Amino acid sequence: MAEAREKEAAGRPPRGETLLYLNGVTKSFDGFKAINDLSLVVARGEMRAIIGPNGAGKTTMMDIITGKTRPDAGEVYFAGNTDLTRHDEAEIASMGIGRKFQKPTVFESHTVEDNLVLALSGQRGIFSTLFHKRSESDSKRIDTILETVRLTAKRHLPAADLSHGQKQWLEIGMLLAQDPELLLVDEPVAGMTDAETEETAKLLREIAETRSVVVVEHDMHFVRALGVKVTCLHEGHVLAEGPLDQVSADPRVIEVYLGR
Ligand SMILES: Nc1ncnc2c1ncn2[C@@H]1O[C@H](COP(=O)(O)OP(=O)(O)OP(=O)(O)O)[C@@H](O)[C@H]1O
Ligand SMILES: [Mg+2]
Repeated sequence: MAEAREKEAAGRPPRGETLLYLNGVTKSFDGFKAINDLSLVVARGEMRAIIGPNGAGKTTMMDIITGKTRPDAGEVYFAGNTDLTRHDEAEIASMGIGRKFQKPTVFESHTVEDNLVLALSGQRGIFSTLFHKRSESDSKRIDTILETVRLTAKRHLPAADLSHGQKQWLEIGMLLAQDPELLLVDEPVAGMTDAETEETAKLLREIAETRSVVVVEHDMHFVRALGVKVTCLHEGHVLAEGPLDQVSADPRVIEVYLGR
């Protein structure tokens, strides 16, 4: 056990060179360890896929990174030296960590474009944002984001008129408006059509050209399309990590997850 731990630690880059660094993180709920000695490192500009059975701790891990849940023990660092366990959710969001929850939370009665305008404005009030002339740079950013999330043709429609998948894309666009360095996405393709799922993989790959992305998904076709390093969690701990072909051929992964 100690030997395995040393081996694990030896393969890890120094914290200063990482964007996200979790080391020995533990979190119990009523005595049950939802996260158990979890260590995970994501490099700047890397996209990582997280897989694992229901209850493996994937969402709880995101809760810990974003300050929604405090770990009982362990280190959680952003950009090498920012100790995330010392900050609250709002502070962590403003540091450049964006999070996409499972359910889209767009403003249904506003247009697609106004949803992005509102996300871009952040602190500014709703009225001054929607009724004042937009700066040229804001307009350009909105155009770019609309292109990225495949919604240029829908910009003047109320968000309520979008399909479920398009609403997910709009919410990703709203997160991009805040220009996060790290984007956390929890089960983005649940409920999407096959075509939307395929497009989402492309979209996330484009987004990952300019920032780090951590994406949790059960859809293995989608994970394959991402074409990135995969981490399989089980009982709050890393069970296997590496290229998808290697992870999905791991007998332990097949036993607890893929073979179900
Ligand atoms: N706030 C909480 N209070 C009590 N138990 C919790 C809390 N949050 C998570 N848990 C428990 O922690 C474990 C891990 O849950 P988590 O939601 O992180 O799993 P997951 O990997 O995201 O699963 P899924 O694939 O179903 O989304 C589960 O047993 C869950 O019931
Ligand atoms: Mg979850």
